Amino acid sequence: VLRIRGVNMEIEMIERKTLKEKPAAGSELGFGKLFTDYMFSMVYEEGRGWHDAKISPYEPIPFDPSTSVLHYAQGVFEGAKAFKNEKGEIRIFRLAENFSRMNRSCDRMCMPRLDADFALKAVYRLVQLEKDWIPTAEGTALYIRPLMIASSAELGVHAAKKYLFFVILSPVGAYYKHGLAPTKIYVENHYARTVAGGTGEAKCLGNYAGSIKAAEEAQKKGYDQVLWLDGVHKKYIEEVGSMNIFFVIGDEVVTPALNGSILPGITRKSCLEILRANGYKVSERLLSVKEVVKAHKKGRLKEVFGTGTAAVVSPVGVLGVNGENLEVNGGRMGDVTKFLYDTVTGIQTGRLEDKFGWVTVL
Ligand code: COI
Repeated sequence: VLRIRGVNMEIEMIERKTLKEKPAAGSELGFGKLFTDYMFSMVYEEGRGWHDAKISPYEPIPFDPSTSVLHYAQGVFEGAKAFKNEKGEIRIFRLAENFSRMNRSCDRMCMPRLDADFALKAVYRLVQLEKDWIPTAEGTALYIRPLMIASSAELGVHAAKKYLFFVILSPVGAYYKHGLAPTKIYVENHYARTVAGGTGEAKCLGNYAGSIKAAEEAQKKGYDQVLWLDGVHKKYIEEVGSMNIFFVIGDEVVTPALNGSILPGITRKSCLEILRANGYKVSERLLSVKEVVKAHKKGRLKEVFGTGTAAVVSPVGVLGVNGENLEVNGGRMGDVTKFLYDTVTGIQTGRLEDKFGWVTVL
């Protein structure tokens, strides 16, 4: 039994009999296909709070068929990354931000908050235990996936009385199958991801289920992902399926302002902080598709890139707008995109000094 100082809860450790085989160094990892030996979990019951914290073998979880989350998707998740560098340092990037966002998502979904400090320490323990699973090749990381779900076995549509929180770990490579090659993004003018007052700002399960149809149709047309517009007028730019989006127009770096329906990305926030600290002209504002098309026509649309934990900083080479393909920066990664990719990954891996204090070294 492990005791975490300052938190009135113990973590029970349940060992596996045999460990899994780890992927060979340098092998293609893909995204979220392999999982480590152990997971962290704890349960919540109304009146009792969080309890039964444990690190136990990664294995299937039995569910009652009436389990609430399976029917009504009362659940939220997060995504973070741990890195190991050539010095053998284990480095976790801005995980406290993830638990703070998770708690905001919980508020929106009528779910119990976590003790963020305890959750952080539990993940640090788990990552430490699984350190041999952290890949070290360029562009790879150990992806950390926390999930909280309604686990009561009942069919009423209301907040559940029981919840399960767990964290699983997956060694990952690039999110897109072409790695850092610029992606083709389809500007979606039919389907909507969310509307003002909806759940867009929360990292809740249903937001992602609802996005698959549009993504599949865009893929059939030869695109990698869709760019979502505001759900009412389909006029203003919001975000991409798994990333926030940035545009370099003239000398201004623009990203849509957080308006309640856009996911408040941690890589988005990090890029804004890096750009501002380096003297770039940065705006978080309303940005219409019309303005982007106009800028492209005038040769002022210099770069487009997405940001996300899984996607890191990912160049966009083509924007499909109303049947027309707008090529961005000759389909190549631009200077601002490259600067941000190098800075974010540099801080994550320790190649660059962590001036912002974003990394926890275990
Ligand atoms: C992430 O970037 O970590 C995400 O959660 C996005 C996606 C993989 C669902």
